[in-house]
Amino acid sequence: MSDKLHWDDALADLNLTQDGPINIGYLCTDRNVERGLGDKTALIHQGHGGALGKFSFIDLKELSGGWAAFLEDRGVGSLDRVCLFLDRVPELYIGFLGILKLGAVVQPLFSAFGDESLISRMEDSGAVAIITQRKHLGKVRKVRDRLPELTMVVVIDQTDAHKPLRDGEVAFDMETGRNADFIPAATGAESPSVLHYTSGTTGKPKGALHVHESVLAQYLTTRDVLDLKPEDVYWCTADPGWVTGTSYGIIGPWTLGATQFVLDAGFSSAAWYQAMSDHKVSVWYTAPTAIRMLMKDGAELVKEYDLSALRHMCSVGEPLNAEGVLWGREAFGLDFHDTFWQTETGAMMITNMPGMTVKPGSMGKPFPAVEAAVVDADTGIRIDEPNTVGMIAVKPPWPSMMRTYWNNSATYYGKFLNGWYICGDRASIDNDGYFWFSGRDDDVINTGGHLVGPFEIESALLEHEAVAESAAIGKPDPVNMEVVKAFVALKPGFEPDDDMELSIMNFIRKKLSPLAMPQEIEFMEKLPKTRSGKIVRRMLKAKERGEEIGDTSTLDDD
Ligand code: WT7
Repeated sequence: MSDKLHWDDALADLNLTQDGPINIGYLCTDRNVERGLGDKTALIHQGHGGALGKFSFIDLKELSGGWAAFLEDRGVGSLDRVCLFLDRVPELYIGFLGILKLGAVVQPLFSAFGDESLISRMEDSGAVAIITQRKHLGKVRKVRDRLPELTMVVVIDQTDAHKPLRDGEVAFDMETGRNADFIPAATGAESPSVLHYTSGTTGKPKGALHVHESVLAQYLTTRDVLDLKPEDVYWCTADPGWVTGTSYGIIGPWTLGATQFVLDAGFSSAAWYQAMSDHKVSVWYTAPTAIRMLMKDGAELVKEYDLSALRHMCSVGEPLNAEGVLWGREAFGLDFHDTFWQTETGAMMITNMPGMTVKPGSMGKPFPAVEAAVVDADTGIRIDEPNTVGMIAVKPPWPSMMRTYWNNSATYYGKFLNGWYICGDRASIDNDGYFWFSGRDDDVINTGGHLVGPFEIESALLEHEAVAESAAIGKPDPVNMEVVKAFVALKPGFEPDDDMELSIMNFIRKKLSPLAMPQEIEFMEKLPKTRSGKIVRRMLKAKERGEEIGDTSTLDDD
């Protein structure tokens, strides 16, 4: 298939060679200056209260160089893990690039994470440094004792007016730390770059490790699926604590030299439309939950804003239902183009390309450089029969494929079957080759496009003083697709009342994150278990959905 797009087609565009150095930090910054884009706006940043910041590619080069030099001076070496624990402030985006320029591994952490979420991810990665801001410093201080490898906490907004920092904490002001001369590390295609943690059914979150070569896939899919052109203003609504916010909120767009808009503020339909109008956003990458939230405020509201610049819209993270696409047509006169991929795949795998007929409710077709199929769950053999559900599978390798799960190669190898990478989702393919999502093949909860592991929630619940047994499942939700529902058996002497419910909810919100917080808690005398004592989520799920629970005597000892 000689006319098929190949990942290596990106090499020439990015002025790279097969065996030469490849550094994502450099490609997003210095390279753009070298090719004459230095004065072009790279980042339009709108903070809380509407404060605006603008950064050119020269700014990006010098500020990321400053980050790299600062970390290097303090002993951070290549391959060291450096965490970002920041709201969507400019330092998050530019620090990310600085860490990569240094040749270190960047580990983004969602800024709403609580202590337990931080510990499980940082203990595993052995991060040496964390970059944060004063408002999150308390959470970092709370976990430091339990993280022996963490030797440096960098604070971006420390001033003389604040209480002095403690031992091991250091202030860094990005603006005064500029460095135009930093020479990016000559990392290779296989050099580790980004470490994103993702939740599974069992155990703690797993760190999907990516490498610098991933940029080839992120570049091509940004160019061809998001369709970014030099004159575009692009807005990715995802937070870089999650992979969409790095692959398509930093790497892809900036390797193309595009102008990105970032909004660091809570959700409001009116504020979103206002921002899109003010900054003339032309390409927009968002998620079904956000679309459903916008839908609630109606198509009429959209018409009150001048969104004439908007020309292309894409979606990711959860099934985009047909209603969302139809509403998009009515409200914006455009199609939302769904894309399917994962933290592990690093870049889009199944896409609706511009110009392709969108079938509302379908995820589209494999990106032209991707070979994807649905396969039998047991044998890994491709299912050729149309409209038959199987496991979504992708043929390795591709550049943005994770290279391993950090400290957990056994689980990584377990993701392959009969020469395919198995995504863990089920779908069918219609007669025209379009993929239709039918569900995840595990118990992971997808709430608003964010994956939450039931095991993490259950473990955290057990740390509450009143909880004896716990289970967490995803409960179907009209806006968020799923929300967390917890089942709890209390220890003797504790009352299952409203105060208890609130106390447990808050406990999880603080320990894990607002996403993981159960929206509902059902108290039970005892939870259904196998003979060996394992709690059976399957039964609780069936009960929740009003399905047949089945014969409980057949529960096996798994
Ligand atoms: C899981 C991956 C990489 C994007 C952000 C999420 C679900 C993702 C779709 C879609 C239906 C989707 C899958 C997948 N998912 N995109 N277009 N339609 N489901 O990354 O946190 O690793 O989650 O999100 O279940 O496996 P992630």
